[in-house]
Amino acid sequence: MTYSTALFEPARLPGLDLPSRLVMAPLTRNRAGADGTPTPLMATYYAQRASAGLIIAEASTPNATGQTYPNITAVHSPAHVAGWRQVTDAVREAGGRMFLQLQHGGRVGHPATSGLTPVAPSPVPLPETIHTPRGRLPSVVPREMTSDDIRTTVADFARAARNAIDAGFEGVEVHSANGHLLHQFLARNTNLRTDGYGGSVAARIRFTAEVTEAVAAEIGAGRTGLRVSPGNTVNGIAEGETEDLYPALAERLGGLGLAYLHLVHADPDTRVFRNVRAAWPGVLVGNPVLKEVSTREVHRASGALLAAGADLIALGRPFLANPDLVTRLRLGAPLNAMREGTFMYVGGATGYTDYPALDAQPAGASSDSIVALDGDRVA
Ligand SMILES: Cc1cc2nc3c(=O)[nH]c(=O)nc-3n(C[C@H](O)[C@H](O)[C@H](O)COP(=O)(O)O)c2cc1C
Repeated sequence: MTYSTALFEPARLPGLDLPSRLVMAPLTRNRAGADGTPTPLMATYYAQRASAGLIIAEASTPNATGQTYPNITAVHSPAHVAGWRQVTDAVREAGGRMFLQLQHGGRVGHPATSGLTPVAPSPVPLPETIHTPRGRLPSVVPREMTSDDIRTTVADFARAARNAIDAGFEGVEVHSANGHLLHQFLARNTNLRTDGYGGSVAARIRFTAEVTEAVAAEIGAGRTGLRVSPGNTVNGIAEGETEDLYPALAERLGGLGLAYLHLVHADPDTRVFRNVRAAWPGVLVGNPVLKEVSTREVHRASGALLAAGADLIALGRPFLANPDLVTRLRLGAPLNAMREGTFMYVGGATGYTDYPALDAQPAGASSDSIVALDGDRVA
């Protein structure tokens, strides 16, 4: 097959040069301490992946109420900042650059995990069980956020962003995707509010916009990214008006000069992708839809997205299982088999820092003989 070498070209965010267009997508791995403090093992894991053009580190909670699952990372105490500092130092020493994703779970949370009742735009529970330290439990009805809660949560995001910069990150990504708090405000079925944060499209995008604006005001728009997942139904979401929500958000935030807008499940054949691309004046990161996790498929899907106007390509599972993903993609080499049972909730190094790099592969591992579009044989 042929592939576009554009993936390996240098790229630029406002204020940050990237050696390639390949971004490691945020991946929750539940390897933090019980209080959310990053561990030395996490420094090893991220440093192994420092050849990514940019690493977006896993979802980290900006306050105690926002905790989703056991052993996720947090960024609201001095201990969290010190823990993250070990990680960013290790990545920088290995030649890499990192943003940190800020995620409040909203109704995706449980008192058995955080010790607190989850909060959400409206008291609509997650229609599924949820993972807790006591195993999977039925979800609880979240408490509807007051206008005070809204103000303090916005402020918590801004403070967490400042903490991330103090911890050595280049910037942060505001998580408004995948059914977490900000997405719960965007979606019609989880947001029943009548106070200016619910109802119309303009009102439903308001909380995401205010969080993003507050983070940008705190650390600079050029250090602030935003992740959204148009149409994603994960965590019981039914957005309604998907086609209107995301272009409206892109238009509201387009003048700020944000680092980037990041689309989950970016499909160049959809109207929402084309409309968001048209409405967004800045860097667009696309997380392609992979039909399988293979070198060939990553090249196919990434090439199609770049051709349709994405600027950077974010990959999750390929980076999870391949510390040297950039080299493998350049060479057309095969990817390691993923061990899905070790993705989350197991802790420890197994399935985390023990995926081998190419030079540690057994002799005879063959490549796919991928040929670059410019005709150079690279394998
Ligand atoms: C184990 C795992 C953890 C994830 N954690 C996060 C997360 O913390 N934040 C987020 O926005 N997406 C998260 N995702 C979604 C990924 O960022 C990505 O969108 C998804 O895996 C699809 O991309 P891929 O096909 O390249 O893996 C996670 C996915 C997996 C498999």
